[in-house]
Amino acid sequence: MIELCHLAKSFDGNDILKDVSISIPLGKKITIIGPSGSGKSTILKLILCLIKPDSGKVLVDGDDMALLTVDDLYKVRKKIGLLFQSAALFDSMTVEENVGFSLFESDHLLSQEDIHYKIDYALDLVEMKGFSRMYPAELSGGQQKRVALARSIITNPQYLLFDEPTTGLDPVLSTSIENLIVRISDELNTTAIIVTHQLSTIMRTSDLIYYLHDGCLCEPETSQSINTSSNPIISAFINGELGT
Ligand SMILES: Nc1ncnc2c1ncn2[C@@H]1O[C@H](COP(=O)(O)OP(=O)(O)OP(=O)(O)O)[C@@H](O)[C@H]1O
Ligand SMILES: [Mg+2]
Repeated sequence: MIELCHLAKSFDGNDILKDVSISIPLGKKITIIGPSGSGKSTILKLILCLIKPDSGKVLVDGDDMALLTVDDLYKVRKKIGLLFQSAALFDSMTVEENVGFSLFESDHLLSQEDIHYKIDYALDLVEMKGFSRMYPAELSGGQQKRVALARSIITNPQYLLFDEPTTGLDPVLSTSIENLIVRISDELNTTAIIVTHQLSTIMRTSDLIYYLHDGCLCEPETSQSINTSSNPIISAFINGELGT
């Protein structure tokens, strides 16, 4: 279980996150929405302990991320897969090298055959099996996102963090990536946190939706309730009256 307890973070005197608290039940998919610059990616960075909070804490299965030793932090991070805001593939590596990167790098227990089996399985899940020898530059934006998604699930993470998984994709590709997120998190029984400013992603993929406003998370909505939210900030966002 991932728990955020009263997280606060400021950059250069700007209070970006003031008091963010949330517990994410196992197997659930939650979405955090909010305008650009509201601090969504910052929350994901705090979860991974890429940055430390000014106050508050992040608990992953009860472990306080900020207090772990480097070795223990590495172990806990292995439970978490991350899909970056940009696909962030390595240009000089093929699709299969990109997808298997963390296994080739760290998992000495696996044979080459086992690694290739896992890569094939992950590429199959994202419907990119025939592309293993190609390079990122030879792929479309949507295909690159699929490869990045395969890379994020290769270690069978318990938790998946998606930072703007469909930004920059056309509506058809967005829908196919959204469907993949739902299918993969259901199939692997992962807990997913999706961060986005695109409403279409939220509607189809989340159990609960949290709006990040003024450094705090509003009371959650569901994909059914959000359209008729009684929170004026959320309804203004839905109606396109706030920045995205
Ligand atoms: N390392 C950093 N140093 C200084 N300022 C930062 C740093 N990281 C984030 N910020 C600032 O914190 C604010 C929130 O950034 P963040 O990337 O979390 O926003 P976001 O909600 O993910 O936006 P977007 O929707 O555009 O991705 C921004 O004003 C950003 O400039
Ligand atoms: Mg962001």
